[in-house]
Amino acid sequence: MGKDVIIACDFSGAEHVLQFLDQFTDVKPFVKIGMELFYAEGPSIVRQIKERGHKVFLDLKLHDIPNTVKKAMKVLSELDVDICNLHAAGTTAMMQAALEGLTRPDGSRPKLIAVTQLTSTDQQSMERDLLINQPIDEVVMHYAKTAQNAGLDGIVCSPLEAGKVHAVCGEGFLTVTPGVRFADGATEDQKRVMTPAQAKQIGSDYIVVGRPITAAQDPVAAYRRCVEDFCD
Ligand code: C5P
Repeated sequence: MGKDVIIACDFSGAEHVLQFLDQFTDVKPFVKIGMELFYAEGPSIVRQIKERGHKVFLDLKLHDIPNTVKKAMKVLSELDVDICNLHAAGTTAMMQAALEGLTRPDGSRPKLIAVTQLTSTDQQSMERDLLINQPIDEVVMHYAKTAQNAGLDGIVCSPLEAGKVHAVCGEGFLTVTPGVRFADGATEDQKRVMTPAQAKQIGSDYIVVGRPITAAQDPVAAYRRCVEDFCD
């Protein structure tokens, strides 16, 4: 898989997401399905989107005991998703069990990436609620390295961190980065943003773009603009 734009399809129901994807007639964008849509519609929405020819990043952020995560990942692997994820905080044993569960009898498997510290967690809440006292940047890099040592393919991170993650974990370790906005667009609730061109320059492997595409007057044109700026 090379550089690509993943559309965050944060819709609440199947009808809405399928209508949205109907607009894409000659390209089949990579689609991110999150908890809201998956819990509303179940595995059938993944099958339908895959049948239409899209790649799917299933963003369910698993975090449980290793055996439970292993079995859940086996189910996701059979759904033929292309990328799925978990919390690195589940520790090495959980990440290794997840990889075992994901690996099909023929040795193939979806890519597995880790969430490090959520971007909604700041230094203060990490220290107060999690009793982690190191600087948050170091914690994120440590989680990235732990995920890599467990055999994972990459992490979800801010495009601002992608360069450092590659410096620490190597260019082959995938950085999947939300928080992307056009220079002339609204930032909404995203605090630290980059344009698709800046994300390309800093070395993100995949950008995850939601509202700049889903809420655009012409979503197909907005998607094409992202692809031109990020991939070409
Ligand atoms: O609409 P927008 O482009 O902000 O959507 C970004 C997507 O990436 C959303 O699905 C959001 O949940 C997800 N995400 C994020 N920041 C993270 C992790 C995931 O924005 N740190």
